Amino acid sequence: MSQVRDPYLDLRSRYVMDGVALYHPLTIERGENAFLYDINGRRYIDFTCGIGVTSLGHANSELISVAEEQLRKLWHVCFMVMNYRPYVELAEKLARISPGSSEKKVLLQNSGSEAIENAIKIARQATGRIYIISYENSFHGRGTYGYALAATGKYKPYKIGLEPITPGVELIPYPYCYRCVFKQEYPECGLACLDYLKKWFTYSRVPLERVAALIIEMVQGEGGFVVAPVDYVRELKKLLDGYGVLLVDDEVQCGWGRTGKMWAVEHYGVEPDILVTAKAIANGLPLSAIVGRREIMEKTLPGSFGGTYGGNPVSCAVASRVVDIMLRDKLPDRAAALGEIVRKRLNELYGKFKLVGDVRGLGIMQAIELVKDRKTKEPATDEAAKIIDKAREKGLLLLRAGLYLNVIRLHPPLTIEEENLEKGLEILEESIKEVEAESP
Ligand SMILES: Cc1ncc(COP(=O)(O)O)c(C=O)c1O
Repeated sequence: MSQVRDPYLDLRSRYVMDGVALYHPLTIERGENAFLYDINGRRYIDFTCGIGVTSLGHANSELISVAEEQLRKLWHVCFMVMNYRPYVELAEKLARISPGSSEKKVLLQNSGSEAIENAIKIARQATGRIYIISYENSFHGRGTYGYALAATGKYKPYKIGLEPITPGVELIPYPYCYRCVFKQEYPECGLACLDYLKKWFTYSRVPLERVAALIIEMVQGEGGFVVAPVDYVRELKKLLDGYGVLLVDDEVQCGWGRTGKMWAVEHYGVEPDILVTAKAIANGLPLSAIVGRREIMEKTLPGSFGGTYGGNPVSCAVASRVVDIMLRDKLPDRAAALGEIVRKRLNELYGKFKLVGDVRGLGIMQAIELVKDRKTKEPATDEAAKIIDKAREKGLLLLRAGLYLNVIRLHPPLTIEEENLEKGLEILEESIKEVEAESP
């Protein structure tokens, strides 16, 4: 690939704070469904979607029209000052499409982190309890400095130099069966990690009756697309209900059809007490939502929630159309069908390359975990980085994830053409092949 100098990367390194990392050294000029174009006109297949956000593709013309129309009508009045249609119409739609049969109420914010903070505020006000349980290897946001960060189960790089972290959050092992902390095999383990929760929260840590909420990603996103087993989540919900602990379902990354159902929790047949969503909700415009059971949301105190920008009219109008398109075009079903193509291909890669230690995911949210040795499961972190660099050189943009950054996760748009999905998978295979051949 010819190396063309990128003056905007120079501007970035000269003027932008260093605490914001950069995955790919590229300056992107424009996008078109599953393609991105850099400032030199080079085209890439986008398997990142801005970290699972642009699920309806870049420059979606239907969403552009909605945004333009709303921009001409109203940008901002502040929902705490006056009511406006896009907010309440979206709230109604979200309440309607959220999982479970209970009536729901909605709060809109701007980002995933902010939504998590608010979910915790709601759980505390509604229960009058203090503690929060979260998971190791989880991610709930670095955009704020409160519970989203405290609940994030990965120290490096998110919490470095930021201690003391907000207290009152207890981290427990996630059912990450490939790297079970109890050294067991699923399902023979009999859900040893759930026994741990029962035991430690009954006898020696904070008692479960003092816990306001447990927050869980049904599929850990940044953690490397780790899928919680169905029986784990069902048993967990029963356990929490017994102690009056609310289940907060963080669908910021795994929601909006990506797993093959509108919400990942629908694979589990349980109704969360509070669902948190962001990312794909408005296909890239800033917006997040907290959808809670009505009786919980009605316990919140007027004036203690809100914010100047939460539920921006343009973002809401676009999100409303995102809901319509998801339902009209049956995009969760499409994600399931495309996911089968991806899974088949990744399983083939497992058969061909020793570097691939695990293949996992739900729907189109699929990933491979790379290891130096399938027995010891030593993470192949450098190899993952090399594969991603090679893929970029060949025209495919990928993302890493996982505790050891040795997972390659696939986040293509749900609207990707099958041909481009296949082309991307081909590039992934070539890149793994080259890196494996170079590895000792
Ligand atoms: C599961 C999950 N929760 C919360 C967040 C935080 O969202 P945001 O980056 O919009 O603050 C993320 C972001 O990646 C996420 O994946």
